Amino acid sequence: MKEEFNFSDLDSEIFEFILDNIPDAITIVDANCKTIFWNKTSENYFGVKKDDIIGKDIREFFPSSLLPKVIDTEKSYHNIYNSPRKDSFTVISAVPIYNQENQLIGGLARDRDITEYVKLSELLSKTQTSLDKLEKQYSSYGIRESSFSNIITNNPEFIKTINVCKNIAKTKINILLRGESGTGKELFAKAIHNESELEGKFVAVNCSAIPKELFESELFGYDKGAFTGARKEGKSGKFEEANNGTIFLDEIGDMPFNMQPKILRILEEGYVTRIGSNTPIKLNIRIISATNKDIKELVNKGEFRKDLYYRLNTFQVDLKPLRERKEDIVLLSNRFMQEFCMENGINVFIIPEKVNKILKNYQWEGNVRELKNVIHRAVILARENNNDEITVDNLPNYMQFNDYENTEEFDVSINNTKGLEKTLEEVEKKLIYEAMKKSDWKKSEAANILGIPRTTLYYKLDKYNIQMQY
Ligand SMILES: Nc1ncnc2c1ncn2[C@@H]1O[C@H](COP(=O)(O)OP(=O)(O)OP(=O)(O)O)[C@@H](O)[C@H]1O
Ligand SMILES: [Mg+2]
Repeated sequence: MKEEFNFSDLDSEIFEFILDNIPDAITIVDANCKTIFWNKTSENYFGVKKDDIIGKDIREFFPSSLLPKVIDTEKSYHNIYNSPRKDSFTVISAVPIYNQENQLIGGLARDRDITEYVKLSELLSKTQTSLDKLEKQYSSYGIRESSFSNIITNNPEFIKTINVCKNIAKTKINILLRGESGTGKELFAKAIHNESELEGKFVAVNCSAIPKELFESELFGYDKGAFTGARKEGKSGKFEEANNGTIFLDEIGDMPFNMQPKILRILEEGYVTRIGSNTPIKLNIRIISATNKDIKELVNKGEFRKDLYYRLNTFQVDLKPLRERKEDIVLLSNRFMQEFCMENGINVFIIPEKVNKILKNYQWEGNVRELKNVIHRAVILARENNNDEITVDNLPNYMQFNDYENTEEFDVSINNTKGLEKTLEEVEKKLIYEAMKKSDWKKSEAANILGIPRTTLYYKLDKYNIQMQY
């Protein structure tokens, strides 16, 4: 007969109470596999009452129980995954129990119900899969901030421009978007594509970023073995990728001159042929091009082909610079501030009138993109200083200087409370800034205007952190 083990020997009501109230099913058997402890969770989980099983051999109830194995082999098992019924999952651990003389007196099993976790994780993985799919579709269409509803404006003329674009989006007309840097050309191009309901992708080609030598292979693709260094399996070009969709020829003014007749031919014939191939591919493509240059002038100077210009420019859309739609500045600032705060989980800031005034008076040569950057930067600085509003100090230095230009005169009278040193510094900053602007940010010229050595100018530019504007 093996060593006797009574659970009541360890008796403690508290001990039993605790075991009854944990979410794991606990079974303890003696060395003969007689069940000597069975907690409440076991009752619920296995559907067997404590009074029915205590004192009985565990195998009578659960022939495949791990515990007899533990008793036999004196081996421990940890976190064995088990699915006792359909849609029910557990992890089981079972260990031998020894007395103080190191004799085996029984075994303990712990079953943890992980059905909920498994279901949750299945749900999570399904959600992740559909999210991945959506993300793929999303990026394959180049759709991000791409609908007209994301274009923010209160300017009547700009609203008209949006409406015109909406109307022509569904036609096959080629569109030329003209506007300074950061006015939203790409945003418009994507919105037009999205509105067009074309089946194919939106494929952007930045004509100024592709090296001349690679232009042809990037746009037309190449067949296998077309040239040394070509990928074995060949490669599709941007035109092919954009088939049945939109090709966005960005910075069209920088399209290499020798490429222009080739592009024109494709547009006229409606076919593209991969380099090294004889098989033309039929194209059904909407072309949106964009430029911040005056293409007409490039045409006049002979730097851009007239025929291509007319082909691309079936319809021209001019995007007004931000400085010509001042009402949008405050609107956009607030929107960008709110979006940025929400994305970063921080409270929104107040933009006081003083700051708005500077923003409205600034020239915004980098347009909406520049405004977005300035606002993001200001939010970061305001947050660092624990402010609940954006202050003038949170704007870039060159904008603070810009404020001088709008304050009619410097108050340099004795009534000025700023003190001599601060006032002199401000006058110095203002003069340096003006000289730099006047000289088109050429330092030697500015130093001449100011009548100071260049090294002194370098030192002062650094001291006052005066940086070039766009
Ligand atoms: N009206 C607007 N409403 C909301 N966001 C805008 C608006 N105009 C521009 N933006 C945002 O400003 C940034 C610059 O826009 P976009 O890239 O379209 O300009 P772009 O004209 O293509 O500039 P570039 O010539 O420098 O390429 C983007 O983040 C865009 O989302
Ligand atoms: Mg762009």
